[in-house]
Amino acid sequence: MFQNLVPAAIDPILSVAEAFREDPRPHKLDLGVGVYRDVSGNTPVMAAVRQAERWLVQVQTSKSYIGLAGNLRFNQAVTQLVLGHAEPAGWFTLQTPGASGGLRLLADLIAASRPTATVWISDPSYVNHAPIMRAAGLQVGQYPYLDATDGSLRREAFFSAVAGMGKGDVLLLHGCCHNPSGVDLEMADWQRLAGMVTRQGFVPFVDLAYHGFGAGLEQDTAGLRLLADASEEMLVVYSCSKHFGLYRERTGAALVKSAEPARLKAKLFELARHSYTMPPDHGAEVVAIIMESSELAALWRNELDTMRERIQSTRDQLANALAKRGMAVDNLRRHKGMFSMLPLGEGGIAQLRNDAAIYIVAGGRINLAGLDPDKIDMLADAVVKVS
Ligand SMILES: Cc1ncc(COP(=O)(O)O)c(C=O)c1O
Repeated sequence: MFQNLVPAAIDPILSVAEAFREDPRPHKLDLGVGVYRDVSGNTPVMAAVRQAERWLVQVQTSKSYIGLAGNLRFNQAVTQLVLGHAEPAGWFTLQTPGASGGLRLLADLIAASRPTATVWISDPSYVNHAPIMRAAGLQVGQYPYLDATDGSLRREAFFSAVAGMGKGDVLLLHGCCHNPSGVDLEMADWQRLAGMVTRQGFVPFVDLAYHGFGAGLEQDTAGLRLLADASEEMLVVYSCSKHFGLYRERTGAALVKSAEPARLKAKLFELARHSYTMPPDHGAEVVAIIMESSELAALWRNELDTMRERIQSTRDQLANALAKRGMAVDNLRRHKGMFSMLPLGEGGIAQLRNDAAIYIVAGGRINLAGLDPDKIDMLADAVVKVS
């Protein structure tokens, strides 16, 4: 049976990670990784998570199944974080196995509701967006987003693409900290989108995977909330991988606004039942414990602030180092979150790897959290040399 399988193309991020692992050069630098790292290069278990886990071990008395919506206290906590209310009218939240599981579940929901829909993703976007949508049988289109020459938003091209969208279209946006470009929409852009959604009736679909890594927890949801108020129907997918550091615990959620709550809930339950049935509970319970304790929530917010400030400081230092060497870096400074794209061609990226043992994902994405401050000058020298 299996002899007919066609090998899948290797994920570009995983293949960079593999090449990095095999490189024997001691000074090698991995900027391809997609996780947060602290100054020592670790992806730590956050202190608030560790304390919640200790508590959980003491008080948990059963590992029996929970319902198809997952951990309801987690769902309330996430809804509060995303929308500012634990039970806002018209919204239904369901815990999912990470945001990846949420993306697939919502893709299946779109396919079940409107099989002819086109999901529009940014050019460029998170590497798994298009494959997940296509795996659910959906058509995928790309809208202009990044101007790779100077790291800015192609604002007018973006809005003219959105101007052509209507009821059969789903517009997939990054809530904050756009992956891979770091280029975020400004509040005026979200406002403009809110007006267009009301007039045109397309469905916004916001992926929020780096909440709190941009400008702060409140600021990072301000645009999404504007759109939520303006939309009759909306999809949101949420990840706790990065800002709670729960990566392997597969902790995420899908939030849907609709005027058909009963139909929606039944379909989501059916879709979940026919794939994973119930999401893993551990990470969700940890998040619920943290958000229900004012002490742990404060500790977590503090840790998150430190992570965001560290990324921002590394970004500033890299921009200063590149500016000193004559590169234009105004947009790099403005980018949000862990990622930015350096204006390097495929040749430059290969040269960085071959000559300087610096690993960057195809397309030029770098993860600033992977950058040790001691290596900033070395990186700036190497980048200027290949640009
Ligand atoms: C934009 C975006 N969406 C979704 C995900 C998937 O997150 P999760 O680990 O929760 O599945 C990622 C992970 O890197 C991401 O960058």
